[in-house]
Amino acid sequence: MKKLLAEAADRAARYVTGIANRQVVPLPADVARLEALGGPLPQSPSDPSEVLALLDDIGSPATVATAGGRYFGFVIGGSLPAALVANWLAGAWDQNAAMQVMSPVAAKLEEIVLEWMVDLLGLPSGSGAGFVTGTTMANFSALAAARTALLKRAGWDVEEDGLFGAPPIHVVVGDEVHVSVLKALSMLGLGRSRVTRVPADAQGRMRPEALPPLDDHTLVCVQAGNVNTGAFDPAGEICARAHEAGSWVHVDGAFGLWAAVSPQYAPLLAGAGAAERDQHLVQDHVVQDGESRLAQTFREFFRLTTVSLDHFPQSAASQ
Ligand SMILES: Cc1ncc(COP(=O)(O)O)c(C=O)c1O
Repeated sequence: MKKLLAEAADRAARYVTGIANRQVVPLPADVARLEALGGPLPQSPSDPSEVLALLDDIGSPATVATAGGRYFGFVIGGSLPAALVANWLAGAWDQNAAMQVMSPVAAKLEEIVLEWMVDLLGLPSGSGAGFVTGTTMANFSALAAARTALLKRAGWDVEEDGLFGAPPIHVVVGDEVHVSVLKALSMLGLGRSRVTRVPADAQGRMRPEALPPLDDHTLVCVQAGNVNTGAFDPAGEICARAHEAGSWVHVDGAFGLWAAVSPQYAPLLAGAGAAERDQHLVQDHVVQDGESRLAQTFREFFRLTTVSLDHFPQSAASQ
């Protein structure tokens, strides 16, 4: 095993150190060589060392060099040395991080990092937060919490009774809303077309003067950072209007939320920040909400039927 891990380390080191000098997009010939993978399902086990060699020799040249410094496509970050090596160790740990009892270290690390994130982004301490797979799921999660809360306000328990017969929720989005918000709305039964689209300016910012009448059954989706232009919806003005009407505000901060850590750009988020009450901030892999009351809403949405761990042998946790 040790030899195999050392081989993987060698190959990975070669890949990472070579990334600055290779082409970003694989050559057509390298993509064509992928045909060497696959074939009929092997009838017997393969030598792990050969599998590793095959993956590296055929697979590595056919990667897109997103880990390097010369990749500027989509909104994809590179990897940092600390993150890469921690990821290796996490692979060796092979934890199921679903519950504290299944992985105390995973639970502790999650707690620490979320606390740090809340602090870094200037959110009120005690904000509820959780890791998800990306902003599409962050949007889904935060919008689910919004749906739960707005329907509860109207006397409807959506978790127990579903959406059939539920009071309507009015959803307001900017004309340049990101598709993932519309996808999340469709998955939540709120409908991707059943929204009021507010006209946007030339940079894709929602025009606040064009907002429809708002009320306490309205969900307003604000975008902190347009993927094409970088422009921010005027959150302060929109949140003030929404707040006055008792509407719920969802902020898609896919990558614009990081402006909160920059003294120069933080004002772009003014009004959608820590001081705002009914807000949701979603960000790559993190869902955050501004009040413990909202944390409760998240818990309600993500609640599972409780599994009793009474029978779980104490010794199993310490073995
Ligand atoms: C504004 C906005 N929201 C949501 C997303 C979706 O993020 P992800 O690809 O992490 O699911 C993106 C991606 O670029 C985005 O720009």
